[in-house]
Amino acid sequence: MMSSQWILLVIIAANLVYCNENEIKDTTPIVYEPSWVYKCMGTDGCQRSDRPRSLVEDASSYYDSLALCRTVCGRFGGLWPKPVSAVLSMQTVKMHPNNLRYDLSNVPAEAREMIAQMTQVTSSNLMAECAGNVTDLVDTRVVVYLTVRGNNLELTWDTNEEYFLDVQMKDGGVAVRIDADNVYGARHALETFSQLVTTDKPDQSHQPQCGLRVIIGAKIRDKPAYRHRGLVLDTSRHFIPMKDIKRMIDGMASTKLNVFHWHVTDSHSFPLESTRVPQFTRYGAYSSSDIYSVEEVRQLIKYAQIRGVRVVIEIDAPAHAGNGWQWGKDYGFGDLAVCVNAEPWRRLCIEPPCGQLNPANPVMYRVLRNLYKDIAELLPKPAVLHVGGDEVFFGCWNSSEAIVNYMEEKGIERTVDGFIKLWGEFHTNALQAWDEELKSLGTDEPQPVMIWSSELTQAHRVQKYLSKDR
Ligand SMILES: *[C@@H]1O[C@H](CO)[C@@H](O)[C@H](O)[C@H]1NC(C)=O
Ligand SMILES: *[C@@H]1O[C@H](CO)[C@@H](O)[C@H](O)[C@H]1NC(C)=O
Repeated sequence: MMSSQWILLVIIAANLVYCNENEIKDTTPIVYEPSWVYKCMGTDGCQRSDRPRSLVEDASSYYDSLALCRTVCGRFGGLWPKPVSAVLSMQTVKMHPNNLRYDLSNVPAEAREMIAQMTQVTSSNLMAECAGNVTDLVDTRVVVYLTVRGNNLELTWDTNEEYFLDVQMKDGGVAVRIDADNVYGARHALETFSQLVTTDKPDQSHQPQCGLRVIIGAKIRDKPAYRHRGLVLDTSRHFIPMKDIKRMIDGMASTKLNVFHWHVTDSHSFPLESTRVPQFTRYGAYSSSDIYSVEEVRQLIKYAQIRGVRVVIEIDAPAHAGNGWQWGKDYGFGDLAVCVNAEPWRRLCIEPPCGQLNPANPVMYRVLRNLYKDIAELLPKPAVLHVGGDEVFFGCWNSSEAIVNYMEEKGIERTVDGFIKLWGEFHTNALQAWDEELKSLGTDEPQPVMIWSSELTQAHRVQKYLSKDR
């Protein structure tokens, strides 16, 4: 064991080295940027001073950082999207995430676990304001009192996302009160609360120090203007790594978007792993690493839910389906899709690579149903599926002998209206498969589905092939 004298010696030696380094540094000329400061100009936002802090006249009316100025300036401060109403003071106090507590005593037991995860996201977002290290330690206690009135954890178009948020000084600490109908409204309130907090690190500071300040004196009422606030991402044309999808979800959460429409497949590639149909990725992924595993998708859905975002998976069909579906013949099932990667593409699809499901092959419907079953098992209830339904290219179906024969057998003419009829039949069958799979998982009520607008949904056709109730 090392004696304490030894440790002392080591420390002294270390200090000597440290001091020497400092002396060298002190003699090195370092040109510091002048420290600009910012003034709140009301609705015109924050304006930088025309001279450094040491030379401005009414220094006390300036803020050290643009971030701090923006957080307190104007009617809505740094809040985005703008809430329905907000009364904000321009007063802030220092705070530290270590002294931030969440009081869940007014949260129903069934909702506590989810709320706890939502508060963890808030706390780590606050830490991230200082790149994970809030060095300015202060004792101010900040308590967030959450009142969640219901225990419904479903996120749907009917979810009431309204919330109330109130921040006041109380007994030398900061009391934050959140009132919401359900966990998702409460989550939005937490998001808004984090927008009342900012770093006060001066913009030109060369110090590693970083502290947080929170507005004290805020009364906010908010609810969304639109029930569906979505973003669509295509991961078929290009594979997007899961970490980047999660980063996008973070951005959606911070702006209170609530639907991630995942255009996961298309004719280009099929990156979504299916337990029941492993051929989809085996034949359709760009490479063995360009795949979203079932477990990753499960985690993403959870990740998004904690951030108030519902994942709507789209399996585009019957058009925009090719790679991933081209193995039917190898398995003795016939063509599951036709025109896959066919050329000249201009005669067979709207854009390359071509591919359309084969509505004349009953095995195609069995395979599609298995995929739907996998998806139904992954999604939280009530599950919403996007069934695709855009840009069917009749020249492709018209070029397939099997499909032409099928149409003849069923007495469907090879006119535009005939192909529309075949297309409508596809969606009727696909929807029935989805409904039956949901039913087998305990959802008896038919659920709304999403579909692209297209020739099929034109005013004079839509009700002939698609139920307005769905
Ligand atoms: C945080 O900052 C302090 C003070 O600058 C430093 O001592 C500490 O090592 C930092 N911690 C991390 C995890 O970066
Ligand atoms: C399908 O092909 C037939 C035979 O070439 C043609 O007469 C018909 O017009 C085509 N239908 C469509 C909708 O293009």
